[in-house]
Amino acid sequence: MFLPEIENPKYVKVLIVDDDKKIREILEEFLKREGYNVFSASDGKEALYQIHKISPDVALIDYLLPEIDGISLCKLIKNNPDTIDIGVILITGLNDLEVKINGLSAGADDLLTKPFFLPELKARIKSLAKIKKYRDFLKNYQQILEEEVEKKTRELQKTYLELQETYQEIKELSLEIVFRLAKAAEYRDEHTGAHIQRVSYYSAKIAETIGLSSEEIELIKYGAPLHDIGKLGIPDNILLKPGSLTQKEWEIMKMHTLIGANILAGSKIKYLNVAEEIALYHHEKWDGTGYPKGLKGENIPLFPRIVAIADVFDALTTDRPYRKAIEFNIAIEIIKNKAGTHFDPEIVQAFLKIKDELIEIKNLLKDEEIPHLFALHKKLSPN
Ligand SMILES: [Fe+2]
Ligand SMILES: [Fe+2]
Repeated sequence: MFLPEIENPKYVKVLIVDDDKKIREILEEFLKREGYNVFSASDGKEALYQIHKISPDVALIDYLLPEIDGISLCKLIKNNPDTIDIGVILITGLNDLEVKINGLSAGADDLLTKPFFLPELKARIKSLAKIKKYRDFLKNYQQILEEEVEKKTRELQKTYLELQETYQEIKELSLEIVFRLAKAAEYRDEHTGAHIQRVSYYSAKIAETIGLSSEEIELIKYGAPLHDIGKLGIPDNILLKPGSLTQKEWEIMKMHTLIGANILAGSKIKYLNVAEEIALYHHEKWDGTGYPKGLKGENIPLFPRIVAIADVFDALTTDRPYRKAIEFNIAIEIIKNKAGTHFDPEIVQAFLKIKDELIEIKNLLKDEEIPHLFALHKKLSPN
């Protein structure tokens, strides 16, 4: 029950205990008219039975009762922890001073002297009922609070799980879009999306091995697939030329780094900023002989330094129109020999440590069969 309901008589149970049938009927009728829930008993025994059955809020007890007198009944009520909070009004005769003193000593909460006015009775019942209801409320308060906290916690947990699910869905969707966008660029000269996926997962694995945070690993995983997005801006006669490129054509081909960065520039999304950086610098070389800017060593941002290894490694281990794939171990040797010239030597060290994982990724992402992207994402990122 909530506090506003405390004074409403319809929630108050009153027990009348009197052996005089007529008095019981008068009181019953009056209190019912006032809206109370009224019960009655004609002696102490019946009163005890009713008390345990209905748990009244207020008991109106006549002093003179057969078998168990009013004082004894009052004591029984007040000495029992289950019934101690019932408001007891003891009805005494006019000159029963000793009875009055004994009644108060027995724990009666109020005394009413015969004859009494019904409005006075009503006022006293109202006041005792209010106290009783407050006590009940306080007793239940702790429980109510605990239930409320538990309920809110459950609701919060549910919302949290829903948010996590939505976040996960958005993340998967983003990855899907990134792969598809990158595939569009790659399709013109690669015809499958497997290269960009392998570069993505190789890069993430290397990032993990050199100790980058899980957020950074995600960024490189999402950013790496777009490294050659700038190929969209390279004319077919250069991009798809079967023979070697002229110097002029090669200069145009190199433009794919700048075009890619341009396509991705100005985004508010973090992994697209990383993708922009990777697109721009993935052909830079550790010794400064790369393009487009000829940056050297640690002047080349970290993510493109990682992707550069993953990209070259995948190109070496994949069939190309002009040559067959190089054997895995030989490709690893080539990368190793380019540490300090083409590649960051520390990242090469990390790369060499994860040979087995790289083979696993390669076997999962073969050119001829591209697994469903969601299934793949889940397989490679179980968490
Ligand atoms: Fe490239
Ligand atoms: Fe590539």
